[in-house]
Amino acid sequence: MKGIILAGGAGSRLYPMSLVASKQLQPVYDKPMVYYPLTTLLEAGIREIAVISTPHDLPRFRQLLGDGKRLGIHFTYIEQARPEGIAQAFLLAESFIGNEPVALILGDNIFYGATGFNETIRDFTSGATVFGYSVRDPERYGVIALDTKGKVVDIIEKPKTFVSPYAVPGFYVYDDSVVARTRKLQPSPRGELEITDLNKSYLADGHLQVHLVPRGVAWLDAGTSSSLHDASAFIQAIEKRQSIKVGCPEEAAYRRGFISDDEFAALIAALPHCEYRAYLEETLNKPF
Ligand code: DAU
Repeated sequence: MKGIILAGGAGSRLYPMSLVASKQLQPVYDKPMVYYPLTTLLEAGIREIAVISTPHDLPRFRQLLGDGKRLGIHFTYIEQARPEGIAQAFLLAESFIGNEPVALILGDNIFYGATGFNETIRDFTSGATVFGYSVRDPERYGVIALDTKGKVVDIIEKPKTFVSPYAVPGFYVYDDSVVARTRKLQPSPRGELEITDLNKSYLADGHLQVHLVPRGVAWLDAGTSSSLHDASAFIQAIEKRQSIKVGCPEEAAYRRGFISDDEFAALIAALPHCEYRAYLEETLNKPF
């Protein structure tokens, strides 16, 4: 399975911070935001990853992440000239995707806990799989409509009236029909190729699976100064309490076996002396 991290957009809600660094490069406690969705993909076993961002910000992502070799993976970088919709990612990444299934994660979505993503990717065969996550403010998201038997009957983007508490988080898995389906979409009134319309195309054909995310999983949205602060506080609380790091791609690559002990040691040796390096050293010496 291929992976895409969509990390473009104007980030205008984070102005003036977003003047010099895009939203997905802002710190969430002790690391750049994009480390969290990247780690989610690595933990799910994905090693071929495209990072999509604006022409202005893409060089910064390249500087931060490199070619991926040190993590035993490979990054491809793709420009999105204008933010014309989340689903546009599939048109931009057509040659990257080829004939494989693909998982898309939004660069400002942070997940923590037993999401079920790994099992979904392991068992995925065809169609599309999205998730439903109960939130207090579903009107801000794509929302799942269920019938009385709990069957998914619709997905509504930012519904004006209450439909259900189940928002669709920014992690989606698609088969290789995704590019052809996206090509058939029309831009929405806000001028975007909507991910919700793509999901509805799978639903209409009976090819959409929806998994409800169990309690105990955190899905954090870090798109405003306030939610960015909340996300940092959450990560700090977990990391201080448990003495682990959340969203550490080096650790995920090592634990997944993408790199050997020697490669992990070499990766650590290239880092400056800091708390992050000390954590990785501990991981190498205590690999459980
Ligand atoms: O967070 C999950 C929600 O993401 C879903 O529940 C919605 O169905 C989906 O439409 C989307 O909601 P928003 O419309 O609020 O997403 P937003 O426009 O904020 O874009 C999400 C991220 O994707 C953001 O970090 C910027 C990036 N993005 C967005 C667009 C439209 C791009 O990189 N390029 C784009 O063209």
